[in-house]
Amino acid sequence: MGKGKKVAIIGAGNVGATVAYSLAMRGSCHQIVLRDRNIETAQGKALDMSQAANAARMHTVVTVAKEAKDIAGSDVVVITAGSPRKPGMSRDDLLLMNAEITKQVVGDVKKHCPDAIIVMVSNPLDVMTYVALKESGFPRERVIGMAGILDAARMAHFIYQKIGYGAGQIRASVMGGHGDDMVPLPKFSTVAGVPLTDVLTEEEIIDIVERTKHGGAEIVGLLKTGSAYYAPAKSTTVMVEAILQDTKQIHSCAVYLDGEYGYSDVVSGVPIALGANGIEKLFEVTLNMGQQRRFAKSVKSVKSMIDVLKAKNFFGDQQ
Ligand code: LAC
Repeated sequence: MGKGKKVAIIGAGNVGATVAYSLAMRGSCHQIVLRDRNIETAQGKALDMSQAANAARMHTVVTVAKEAKDIAGSDVVVITAGSPRKPGMSRDDLLLMNAEITKQVVGDVKKHCPDAIIVMVSNPLDVMTYVALKESGFPRERVIGMAGILDAARMAHFIYQKIGYGAGQIRASVMGGHGDDMVPLPKFSTVAGVPLTDVLTEEEIIDIVERTKHGGAEIVGLLKTGSAYYAPAKSTTVMVEAILQDTKQIHSCAVYLDGEYGYSDVVSGVPIALGANGIEKLFEVTLNMGQQRRFAKSVKSVKSMIDVLKAKNFFGDQQ
């Protein structure tokens, strides 16, 4: 009997647990291990989910990685561990804190699953993907950040809300970083092939672009005690399944740029084909002047956060 597919999820909070649940409900892998500093909570969630999988007549079993070595043998490692911003903390404080957490987690991944593909989810997403890449020493094909699928899903839903038709048929496109400077691309978005400009006015499209950029904050404002997790988790699951099933689906994901689009030594969201090797192909889309300008601004804001880490000598000798 083959060993089957194994997925490790580091951080069993709302996003991590919902990724596990989505995978288990579809039987996308044989084994899921949850790793969290709160072992009992993770155990409770793992038991609950294994039982849910049974109810769904799925073979996926969810367990807890009490020790780092329990993640060994994972084909994909999803990293959602990180701290939210606490009162009195600056963005830079949070950046450094989550970078330290990522560094430690990635150290475990490097040691126990050197052949895994890392799907990064923690915020600030693009910078954490950069940290994971540098700290793992993995080739860029195997360190991929989630966000483009989420941001495009949000944009697609906002398009639906404006036109009232086509739910589930709308293909929106968002590139750049997962931050206020993300780059929604209405010119590359369609309702089942019908260009947005044929169904919406310019003002309506501007509204959609703005609402997409603040899609995460809108949900934080409503939930009050935390941020979104259903759509972030499902978007992550889409990536994990594309890798496990080697579908080579094309999605916008956060990846290390090495000269593409004119940028190097930075991570940003661009369309890639996702398969068993992680990035199977990176697409260089032709952007018009306005789109290039917006993409440049987004890359710059990610670079400035990477520079904060470099200035604090976070990467040590590697930089
Ligand atoms: C979001 C935050 C959590 O977009 O990144 O929901």
